[in-house]
Amino acid sequence: MIREIVVYPDKRLKLVSREVEEFNSVLHELLDDMYETMVQSSGVGLAAIQVGVDQRVLIINEPDENDTQRKENTLEMINPVIIERSGATKYQEGCLSVPGYYDEVERYKYVKVEYSDRHGQSHTIEDDGFLAIAMQHEMDHLDGKVFVEKLSFTKRKRFEKDWKKRHKAS
Ligand code: CO
Repeated sequence: MIREIVVYPDKRLKLVSREVEEFNSVLHELLDDMYETMVQSSGVGLAAIQVGVDQRVLIINEPDENDTQRKENTLEMINPVIIERSGATKYQEGCLSVPGYYDEVERYKYVKVEYSDRHGQSHTIEDDGFLAIAMQHEMDHLDGKVFVEKLSFTKRKRFEKDWKKRHKAS
């Protein structure tokens, strides 16, 4: 089922999400709905709070070499924690909760993340490319942070002004 995406500056995006304790059918339904919602909006990542659920759940789906998103390539991460990080990089980011806005944000180049899958099994994954950026972006959502908050002071001011103008008009 497609759920409604929470759009900036909705206060729910500031919530610190809670740890998942039960890996049950409610969680599985949430994950399936998040996938449908993300794909419908052509997104590559989504955190549960973006559909209004304050739980430490996120999904990432990197398009393959033919630019198609396949469900079996979806990475589902429950209660993820960064256990190693290094380097720095900049990447042009966007967010389904800030539709139509893209900007460069600084991130760690490399991260190693520990997480549980939908069945409660624990895993670790490491990356220094697109996935590393996506994991950091989505994990920020779990702590109530949106990527535009990482912009420089002047860029942020310009963004807030344009965003208000655009959303007043519509
Ligand atoms: Co986002």
